[in-house]
Formats: sequence, structure tokens, C-alpha cells
Amino acid sequence: MEGLDNETGRSKLRISVIGCGYVGLVTGTCLAEAGHQVVCTDNDPQRIAALKAGVVPIYEPHLDAMLAANHRAGKLSFTSDAAEAVRAGEAIFICVGTPPLENGDADLSAIDSVAHLIANEACDSKLVVEKSTVPAQTGQQLKRVLGVYRRNSSVELRVASNPEFLREGTAVEDFLHPDRIVFGVEDEASERQLREIYRPILDRRYRCPVHPSSCPATQLPMLVVTTINSAELIKHASNSFLAMKISYANMIGDLCEKVGADIREVTRAIGLDPRIGPRFLDAGLGFGGFCLPKDVQAFIRLAERSGVDFGMLKEAERVNRRRIDLFFDKIRQALWVVKDKQVGVLGLAFKANTDDIRFAPSLEVIRRLLAEGAQVRAYDQEAMDKTAEKFPQVQYCREPYEVASNADALLILTEWPEFRSLDWVRIHGMMSRPLIIDGRNLLAPSAMAELGFEYYSFGRPMESFDLQLVPPSIPNAFAASASA
Ligand code: UDX
Repeated sequence: MEGLDNETGRSKLRISVIGCGYVGLVTGTCLAEAGHQVVCTDNDPQRIAALKAGVVPIYEPHLDAMLAANHRAGKLSFTSDAAEAVRAGEAIFICVGTPPLENGDADLSAIDSVAHLIANEACDSKLVVEKSTVPAQTGQQLKRVLGVYRRNSSVELRVASNPEFLREGTAVEDFLHPDRIVFGVEDEASERQLREIYRPILDRRYRCPVHPSSCPATQLPMLVVTTINSAELIKHASNSFLAMKISYANMIGDLCEKVGADIREVTRAIGLDPRIGPRFLDAGLGFGGFCLPKDVQAFIRLAERSGVDFGMLKEAERVNRRRIDLFFDKIRQALWVVKDKQVGVLGLAFKANTDDIRFAPSLEVIRRLLAEGAQVRAYDQEAMDKTAEKFPQVQYCREPYEVASNADALLILTEWPEFRSLDWVRIHGMMSRPLIIDGRNLLAPSAMAELGFEYYSFGRPMESFDLQLVPPSIPNAFAASASA
């Protein structure tokens, strides 16, 4: 074990992080913040050069300041010399991408290349930690190939799994304030080493950049120590359950539309049952992003390979894919003809507080609008540059009101809270037709109707009776979804 951190007197371990995507950068930076000596490497030399210059290639609240501070303090460094990074760490966190293959399986080729690298470059014993999201049994394969590829048989390469549950937009907070930390290990030495690495976070003994004054008195993280297979499965099972919960809420939403009920009131009431819980019941355009869609596919594939028919997860995926069709039905019903219509889009990112558009529902909506000959103007706080690379023919606006100018319809595609507090009276006056189709149930139907808008959303009747979800003193004109 390495030395002690002069400042905190805690054990300071040498940690390598391979892969500087959002999981690698958040993991490396937070472990440096927790007092460890961290070196990060990536096979993209430009990304490493940018990071060395303090440029963070992703938008993630708190990350750039923390990264800069730990870099300055010498606790966090970046190198494009992957061999050097391998040799530097006692523990090596594999954080490379595992994107979906055509058939839905996770592409594990980057993990295999890292196995080659570690086996060739390790001169002393290492704990190799899977942080990337991988299907169960990957750790066993990794252990096997490390043994096959290893040049120096005297070097011990132990494998462990440590899945992440970070959400984009709150990843730093999720890492420092996790609900649970999961270790998949095969021996006590690996468990002990991982406990040392996470000690500061388990005991919440670090300076928290998210809550400078004091952290909320929430429960300390639960530690789950299990086998590698179980740890790997926990990640896929968690994400797949969240996906099913969202698709279930969307199915109920569709039913609400048919029977004249209000999805928001229904999910509020069922969520009050602690066995169900209020979160991840927001109906709308469905789940996107780089995690849920691909993890659902990979989990279905793992089940199929194992002779288990995961029908309910396939159905959740089918329900999710159909959200766009249903949303487009609403657009057509309202607009009748889409061709040559001026359509304004509020929100491009797959969710709020991120610049990420991977598997964002907005991309498919825009693709179809353009295919049907609509003129599209769009605004998003963070994701316009990335979207412009895909859809240069869309007009991107510097501020949200511009999308409403002479628009025949306004679509809300991302649940950015800022959109709630827009001046909707002003927007009403700017549109050529005050028509809103809200794909994220962000606004309140009755309030929008009062302002004279035609307003459509998911799972809610046009004129709904707004359940007083907030104390009567606070006007709730736009507090559409208290669960947000
Ligand atoms: C997810 C998991 O939450 C996280 O634990 C895991 O580590 C990575 O994958 P993330 O992809 O950042 O995180 O997004 P998340 O906040 O889970 O949202 C996923 C998608 O579901 C978004 O498109 C969001 O708009 C949608 N969503 C979320 C709903 O449609 N309804 C909800 O109630 C919640």
C-alpha cells in the first residue's frame, strides 16, 4: 500500500484510469479529490492534450473546476503514454466505452485491447477494476485473457468489478454521494484494496465541491461486496429496471389519454407507495442517452445467450421506441400538414443538465420533421453544437424566444427546468399559431389553456384539474410535474 496523504493523513493510493470519457473523467477526478494519486490515459492524443491544457471535453456540472484544482495540486495527471499509466497505478480502473454492436451485444473490443496493454506493460502486481458497463461473465473472460496475454508470469493481475451508477448532469454528486458502492471481488486482498480506495467516500471524509458549506445529512453509502458476476449483473439489472419503470409509466400514460385520467396524478399516487417510489415515473418521449438504451439491449442479448427469454424487457424497449410515433401522431393531428410548417424545438439533449445527444429522442423527431418538409428552428442550453453536426439544415437560436417567432408549433423535447419559467405570454404573442406539443409534460395544461394555447402532452387531458401538489400559498401555474 502507498503512503499517506499529507493533508488528510489518509492512505493515498496510486490509481490509473484508462479511458477519459465521462465515466473515466468523473472517476479519476473524484478519486483524486478523495486524496489519491491519479493518472488518466486515453487512446485519443487530442483529448489528452486538451485535458492537459485544462479543457474538459464534456459538459458536467462541477467537473471542470474539480479537474483543474486536482490537476494544479498534482493529484491528477494525464498522459497519452498508456504503458506509463499502466505501470504507475496499483489499481487500474478500466473506463473505456462499450458501445452497442449491430446485434445489440456490448462491443468489448476496447476492453480486450486494454487487457493486452496491461498484460504487456505491468511490471508489478495490479488490481484491474472493471468500471465500464459490461455484461455478466466479462470479468471471468478478462481474467482468463490477462493470464493468456501476460508476458511476465510473476506479475499477479487480480480482476474486480466496480460498476458505476452515475447519471449525466449529476455525475460528480452521484460519485461522491452514491446510494451504494458495489464491489465484485474474488479475494480479500481485492476487497481490502477497493475499501481503501473508497474509504473517504464511504466515510464521507472529503471536501465536497458540490455542497461547499455542508453536505445534506443523507445516509452514508451502502457497500455491497459480492462476486464479479453478480456485480456486473447488478448494473444491467438496475438500468433495465429503470427503463421498465419509465416504459410502464408511459403505458399508463397512453391509457390515461384513452380513459380521461391524468398520468401525473396517477404516478404521484402510485409513487407514494414506498414499494414503488416516486422517481422515474415521468411519462413522455421515453428514455434516451448512452446508457439505458444500450444497457437494455445488452441485457436482452445476455439473457438470450443464456437461454432466458426476457420478454418484459423487450416489451419495455418496444414501448420506448413507439414514443416518437405517438408524439408524431400528436404533431400530425394538430398540424394536419407538416410540410412547409415553421416548427420550433425547445430542448435537444437526451435530458436536462447535459450536452449529450446520444440516442436523444429529439434526433428522431427532428429527422422526421425535416423528412416531411418542415422548417425547424431549435434551442438548447448546451446541446446545439453537437446537434448542428448532425442537422446543419436546422436553424439554431441564441435564445429560446427566437424559436417561437412566427412558429406554427412549439415542441418541448427536453425537460430543462428553465423552460418552465419562460415568458409564455410573450411566446403566445410571437407564434403564428399558439400550439404547444410538450413531449416532457413540463408545463401545466390548465395554465397553458388559460393563456390561450392549444396544448398537448402525454397522458393528460387538455383541461385537467390540477391536484394541489404544492401548499396553496405557492402559485402552481407552471409547476406541471412536482415529481421532476
Ligand atoms: C442512467 C442511469 O440513471 C444511471 O444510474 C447509469 O449509471 C447511467 O444511465 P443517464 O443516462 O444519465 O443515467 O440518464 P437518466 O437520468 O437515467 O435518464 C435516462 C433517460 O430517461 C433520459 O432520456 C430521461 O429523459 C428519461 N426519463 C428519466 C424519463 O423519460 N422519465 C423518467 O421518469 C426519468
